[in-house]
Amino acid sequence: MEFLRHLVLLFHLVGFAILFGAWVVELVNGHRGITRLMHWGLAIAGVAGLILAAPWGIDYDLNYTKIGVKLVILLIIGALLGIGAGRQRKTGSVPPAIFWSIGLLTLANAAVAVLWR
Ligand code: HEM
Repeated sequence: MEFLRHLVLLFHLVGFAILFGAWVVELVNGHRGITRLMHWGLAIAGVAGLILAAPWGIDYDLNYTKIGVKLVILLIIGALLGIGAGRQRKTGSVPPAIFWSIGLLTLANAAVAVLWR
């Protein structure tokens, strides 16, 4: 059970890596757009996160305030990805505020996960 939970945590981290990695690629290559990989990363991190939010395979209590904050941030990132992708389709570019918010909120969620004890 514990091994299975760690496996789901690994998928959760892979989702985070895909989302944040795809964002960093767009930052560095100068396009600053929204890519399919970002949506995939968010979906993987989200599904794995919801599975981890259930108390199985652990002998300690989960911090549901922290998990709730992470869920809200994830939903905001999802909304920004959707709005940004729509703007990109129509105008060919993503407003800088939307692009930067996606990366910074992703980093913020990882910071909440690791630093909030
Ligand atoms: C972009 C979104 C997210 C990012 C970047 C992210 C990042 C992380 C990271 C880096 C960890 C490892 C922390 C550690 O083990 O010390 C973690 C663990 C965890 N995440 Fe997320 N997360 C995200 C979304 C979510 C969502 C939406 C949920 C649930 C609704 C969630 C639930 C959890 C839980 C429960 C753990 C702890 C697993 C455990 O200790 O057994 N995460 N997350």
